[in-house]
Amino acid sequence: MRENEDGEATREASLGFLWDFWYPALRSTELRGQKLTKAMLLEVPLVVGRTADGQAFAMRDSCPHRGMPLSYGNFDGKSVECSYHGWKFDACTGGCFEIPSLSSHDKLKVERIFAGHYPCQERDGYIWVYMAAPASRLPEIIPPIPELPVFSDKYKITQLSCVLPSHIDHGIIGLMDPAHGPFVHQSWYWRSRHSIHEKEKHFEPIPNGFRMSRHEPSSNSAPYKLLRYFSGEEAMTMIDFVLPNIRLEEIRSGHLWFSSRATVTPIERNLCRIDFVAAWNLLRAMPLIVPIFRSFAKRFLRQDQETMIKQAEGLKHDPRLMLIDDADRPAKWYFALKANLLDARRNGTPMVHPMPGPVTLHWRS
Ligand code: FES
Ligand SMILES: [Fe+2]
Repeated sequence: MRENEDGEATREASLGFLWDFWYPALRSTELRGQKLTKAMLLEVPLVVGRTADGQAFAMRDSCPHRGMPLSYGNFDGKSVECSYHGWKFDACTGGCFEIPSLSSHDKLKVERIFAGHYPCQERDGYIWVYMAAPASRLPEIIPPIPELPVFSDKYKITQLSCVLPSHIDHGIIGLMDPAHGPFVHQSWYWRSRHSIHEKEKHFEPIPNGFRMSRHEPSSNSAPYKLLRYFSGEEAMTMIDFVLPNIRLEEIRSGHLWFSSRATVTPIERNLCRIDFVAAWNLLRAMPLIVPIFRSFAKRFLRQDQETMIKQAEGLKHDPRLMLIDDADRPAKWYFALKANLLDARRNGTPMVHPMPGPVTLHWRS
């Protein structure tokens, strides 16, 4: 490894990001016409756009000539022209094909110059970018983009997002933390701190993550009661966490289903974004559910966001922290999964799963 690559690798490790995964960079609706749009993932500045034939693309927002952000350049639906000296790059490959200053005396091989470039695809209303580690090659087979599970042809889908002033790890363990519910998400229709009771939940290992096994949701949650009311059958729920940052929840009750995915995406070292997408087929049973659901979900996210803003005040002073059993056990699994994945990648060995098998946890919430 060259010296600066070594330096880059050390810097990456210290940021605590997981490279070589797909991350949602933007909502599809944020890309309009032939406008170049800036985004940031894992502290990498990106310029994102859509070609005239509708293909989303993502380049490093930095011209390989002198670092001018390419987002200031011109885009004609096919290629990006840098605003400084007019070098032109193919938007889909990053390949340079024109340097206006070259004369007939120059021997520079233009086609050997590339702007930083990332695999990019649209799915579920997001522009996904595969963040290959800097100074590394793309793997031969790029894994598929994480999909939101749906269980019928017709369904409604909605997206929400919220930015947290936190490192990705705090965003994620906040998302999987069962003990803050009665304190942060108190409301008449959900639960109150007086409804705290002991719970027993079963977990099992899944590839790159863990699953809260299929179970009947606790009786203190109004939305599940509603579902049962409309389907006339018991509701069952299952929650997965999968590296690098995905929480999937599915609720099924008879023919009715609800499926959601929250991803926590690192933007900068102390900034991450929760993207929440939910789909369901409850429409006919409950025509008003879209606005009602959105306002519930927004309120939930806002409560988490306000909490993380306050927590960030405390974290600035680098306090010592604790993870306790059993309520913080999922957080411990997250850190262990992450460490074991990095070990496996470093050593070229299969990843060791931190859970030996199914585990039952107890907590009060
Ligand atoms: S900086 Fe982009 S062409 Fe010179
Ligand atoms: Fe929360």
